[in-house]
Amino acid sequence: MQLERFLEEVEASFDGDPQVSDPSDPAFAELTRTVNGYTSANELAVLNAAARALPEDECYLEVGSYKGRSICGAVRSVPDRTFYVLENYLEFGMQGQEARAELEHNLATHAAHADVRLIEGNCFSLLRRPGLLDRPVGVYFYDGEHTATSHYLALGIIEPWLADEAVVLVDDATYPMVTDAHDAYIARHPQWRVERRWDARTNDDPRWANGLHALSFRRDAATARGSEEPWDVRWRRLGYRTVLGPGQKAAWTAIHRFPGLVPLAKRLYPSKEASSIEASDRS
Ligand SMILES: C[S@@+](CC[C@H](N)C(=O)[O-])C[C@H]1O[C@@H](n2cnc3c(N)ncnc32)[C@H](O)[C@@H]1O
Repeated sequence: MQLERFLEEVEASFDGDPQVSDPSDPAFAELTRTVNGYTSANELAVLNAAARALPEDECYLEVGSYKGRSICGAVRSVPDRTFYVLENYLEFGMQGQEARAELEHNLATHAAHADVRLIEGNCFSLLRRPGLLDRPVGVYFYDGEHTATSHYLALGIIEPWLADEAVVLVDDATYPMVTDAHDAYIARHPQWRVERRWDARTNDDPRWANGLHALSFRRDAATARGSEEPWDVRWRRLGYRTVLGPGQKAAWTAIHRFPGLVPLAKRLYPSKEASSIEASDRS
């Protein structure tokens, strides 16, 4: 996937500077009204621009679908590309069943024309599974859990799957913990760059939600296919598998069983998770 193609598509999708303009296609704003979720119309237009620029022999991969707003935006008028979605429903507790039904309904309504392959599970485990995806990832959209370790790992774990040139879109990137995580990753991995930062001016900014950053990856000899997993990714992955992942799972289960913990959780988590906690509390 050529970064330049993506940037051209972004430019063509807005009437002016994307930071301060609406997408030219009003369908993205309409999607934010009809499909529950967290991504803004501008973010949807950027995801869609990435999907439009994707070569046929590469795929688009999203982590974190929730009820499908972002994937419905990405696939709009893109009938002939392959889209994978990884989702574990962790953050939504028992409501996961409901979220899944709504996701399926939304896909049937807004994405029936597209080849969308939903895989259920934790992305950090799934992406260690050989053969999970049938082609290299040209576009990767990460909108999963937001801890510093998850965001660092979100880049590390995808690297072997990426096409030789790829675009990586990171949601909620205005949160300092997210920006710090990708800046720390890039400092150790010179094949990566931040190409565009569409930052939010406020929490849940109507135009950019909590910010979207576009990163590029270009494979070189140090990241040749079949290279060993770098140590900085390996120790975080092991830490996630043994401590952080089980801890998060226990925390979400506890929040669901003991709603009295909700105010504490809202203080500890950034605002998008807080909305999920509130939604879980109401279920
Ligand atoms: C903020 S929501 C995604 C919002 C969605 N993209 C939209 O447009 O509305 C984050 C989602 O990521 C999922 N998630 C979090 N951590 C995950 C992980 N490790 N693997 C897979 N899915 C994960 C959560 O269950 C949740 O549905």
